Amino acid sequence: MFPGEIDVQPSTYLDRLGTIFARFGADTQDSGNVSYGVQTGATRYFVKTAGDPANTEPYLDFDGRVALLRNAVALAESVSPGPACGGRVIWGPLVVYDWRDGELLHLNSGSAHERFRALPVEEILAALDTLYDLHADLDAAGWVEGDFYDGAMLYDFPTRRLTVMDLDTYRRGPHRNDMGRMFGSRRFMAPEQLSLGAPIDTRTTAYVMARTAVVLLSEPPPALCAVLQEATTTRFPSYAAFHRAWLSARAR
Ligand SMILES: Nc1ncnc2c1ncn2[C@@H]1O[C@H](COP(=O)(O)OP(=O)(O)O)[C@@H](O)[C@H]1O
Ligand SMILES: [Mg+2]
Repeated sequence: MFPGEIDVQPSTYLDRLGTIFARFGADTQDSGNVSYGVQTGATRYFVKTAGDPANTEPYLDFDGRVALLRNAVALAESVSPGPACGGRVIWGPLVVYDWRDGELLHLNSGSAHERFRALPVEEILAALDTLYDLHADLDAAGWVEGDFYDGAMLYDFPTRRLTVMDLDTYRRGPHRNDMGRMFGSRRFMAPEQLSLGAPIDTRTTAYVMARTAVVLLSEPPPALCAVLQEATTTRFPSYAAFHRAWLSARAR
């Protein structure tokens, strides 16, 4: 279905292969990436490209964008195909994922954020389970959070399925903050992501995941509230420690 090499524009190729039913370009994305929803027969794909090589407007140039796409493939391949990462093949700068229905939970992208927060607590917790289990796998494989925010989650309200996507800037292994203010949304970021030279590691992942629950849960049950409080003040020593505390509070 998807050969290793193509020598035409992605959109030309995808048009031949099937029907392009969605496009995510400069009108919605500031990444410089251009992605497509493509249907072939009964199957739908989300196809992501690094966009126009001549587009130097974004923070990352084309080579930088291609490097992130390759990083995303490595990330997707390192965890068992879960609800989040469906990376299958890369050819040239082009990555194919399964298409997932859902609405972006980003605060600034319509009403889904508020509708999600208004769901029954158990439904929100079930979605957080998906997010946290995925991060347990990613953390175990050595991946450290980068630029995660509510715009990296799609929620399908009818089926109650959460999809996590766009984890392209996660990095493998602990590292130092080499940017000062790193990529990310302030509501989710850990203090070390604002401080040049600070260590960025599994503890950072724990903080950002805890912040995600704080943002999404309007009234966390008290036991969970205590875990979130600890995660964002005295901190947990690792994502695994945070996740364990969360699961045991959840079972109470
Ligand atoms: N697997 C998917 N299925 C359906 N839509 C997706 C999928 N992954 C991403 N999207 C949609 O495409 C948009 C752009 O994808 P994203 O990975 O965020 O690209 P970018 O690198 O440009 O930020 C997302 O905001 C989301 O709405
Ligand atoms: Mg994005």
